This record gives sequence, C-alpha cells and structure tokens, in this order.
Amino acid sequence: MPPSVRRRSLAAFATSLFALTVTGVAYAGNGGFLPSEAHSPNAHRIDDAFIFVAIFTGLIFLGVEGALILFIVKYRRGKRSATAEGPQIHGSTRLEIVWTVIPVLILAAIGTFVFWELPGIADAPKAAAADETTVNIEGHQFYWLFRYPNGAISIDRMVAPADEVVHENVIGMPFDVNHSWWVPDFGGKMDAIPGRVNHTWFQAPSGDYVARCAELCGIQHAHMDGVVHVVPRAQYDDFIRARAADPTGTGLGQEEWTGVCEKCHRLDHVYIGPALGGNPLLANREGIETLLRNGQGNMPAVGKNWTDAQIDALISYTKQFAKTGTGS
Ligand code: CUA
Repeated sequence: MPPSVRRRSLAAFATSLFALTVTGVAYAGNGGFLPSEAHSPNAHRIDDAFIFVAIFTGLIFLGVEGALILFIVKYRRGKRSATAEGPQIHGSTRLEIVWTVIPVLILAAIGTFVFWELPGIADAPKAAAADETTVNIEGHQFYWLFRYPNGAISIDRMVAPADEVVHENVIGMPFDVNHSWWVPDFGGKMDAIPGRVNHTWFQAPSGDYVARCAELCGIQHAHMDGVVHVVPRAQYDDFIRARAADPTGTGLGQEEWTGVCEKCHRLDHVYIGPALGGNPLLANREGIETLLRNGQGNMPAVGKNWTDAQIDALISYTKQFAKTGTGS
C-alpha cells in the first residue's frame, strides 16, 4: 500500500473512531452535552446564558480547528526538505487590531447578557408569604438532611410544594467536609461549605427531580444522591404535619437507616464498614448514640447534631435487625 493511501485510511479510521466516541456522549441521557431540561425559572435563565455563550465558543471552536486542519493540509511539508525555512513575517497592524477588537466585543456581549440574566437567577420572584416555604438542607457524609419550617425532618428525599417559590438554605456542618447540592433540572449547584449557609431557590411543577452531591466528599460520594419530590401544596402539608407529629417513628427511622447507615453498611456482609445484622448495638440506645455523635475509626460522626428524637427514630427501626438480622 503506498504511504499516502495508508495515511489517508489511518486518518479516516481515526476520524470515524472519534466521531463514534463523541456520538455516544452527545446522545447520552440527561441531555448529553446540553444541560438537562429546565424545570425552574432560574434554570431557564442559566440555560439561556449557556446557549448564548455556546454560540460564540462554538463558532470560535469551528474557526480555530477549521483553520488548523486547513493549514496542516495546505502547508504540509510535502517534497520540501525538513530544514527549509518558511518566509519570515513581522507585524500586521490591521490584523492585530482585528484580533484585539473582536474578542473585546465578544466578551462585552457575553458579560452584558450574563449580568442581565443574573438577577433572575439569584433572586427568587416576589411571592405572597403564604406561597413561599424555606427548607434547610444539610450536607453530611454521605446524606442530605432536610429540615422543614414546622420541625419535620427527612433524609435523601425532600418533599416540596409545587409551583411555589421554595427557598433552600444549603448548610455545611462545621464538623463535616464540603458537599454541593445539585438538582440538575433546577439549574446551578450550591456548595455546602462547613460553617456557612448558602441560599438558592426553585419553583417547579409536580414531579420527581434527581439530586446529586457534586463535590467529591469521600469514599461514598457517588452514592450521595437523593430526590426532590414536588407535590401539590396539600400533600406537602400532610407530609410535614405527619412527620412532625411522629418525630421518633419508623418513617424517619427507615430513611435514616437507608440514607445514613446503609451508605456504608449491609446487614449480611462487609461493605465499606462491617456487617451489622444481629449486632446488639442496633437496639442499644446509649451505644448507638455514642457511635453516631462521635464516629469511630473511619466512620464519621454522622449523627453529631441529631436531636434525641432522631436517634430514637433510628432505634425504632433498627432494633429489628439486632435480633433477626443475618450474619454476626
Ligand atoms: Cu457529598 Cu459528594
């Protein structure tokens, strides 16, 4: 095979391989290269800014890469000797002005557009107090804890009223590490930084929206996910009322078990931590409190700021495993 034909077939092979690779990414779930479908006004504005910036960066990418490929082909060495010098060029005032002014104009356009969109991203629309609610969101290794205005608590599953402004206080525990609260359908991420409270908001129709921790926070970071369950106002009220009326019940207890303990433990086999089935600690109020509040070895203090009721709720659910669990 002549060298030029071999080169061309290699190039065709490499190009096809590259195209195949990126096609998968482009068509992957949740939008691929694009943000997932926006379900909150601030997310729509973030999408607008993304598209506006992407138009410029896309055109620049095509221009630069196109010129690169064109020049590689057009000015390839061919039959010239490897030591031949190209023509020596110095200075072109007109060209230099053009490549300074155009980027300045592009940056000014992007800056103006983003600053124009920003207030609608950061500030929630004004609403009557009755149509607003605030949920405190705590980031812990490796779970999300939600505290509602009436004192109700849930873990890894946030319930919220539909079509209303929901304010989110994203709180980093002073004794924990960085996490980042991210519901892709609601737009941007919000960091949970130890000792700080950050604010964000959403206003979404009924539905389930996936939540993720977007900050590498330790061995089970990949499993620090949850869901925002947006439901009609009456259903939301029922949920927080029932949860607040039964703060030590198995409703919360089961969420604590699956959201907190099960991130690292299984009943019948060693996982990140030891197997727990049949462990008398699961029914020992004092022992489990000490462990949750202080941690032990590699285990973080996952319940350091829990109320006594939260610990009671966990015991109410886990005591069954102390007797009937498998393993040892
Ligand atoms: Cu929390 Cu990653």
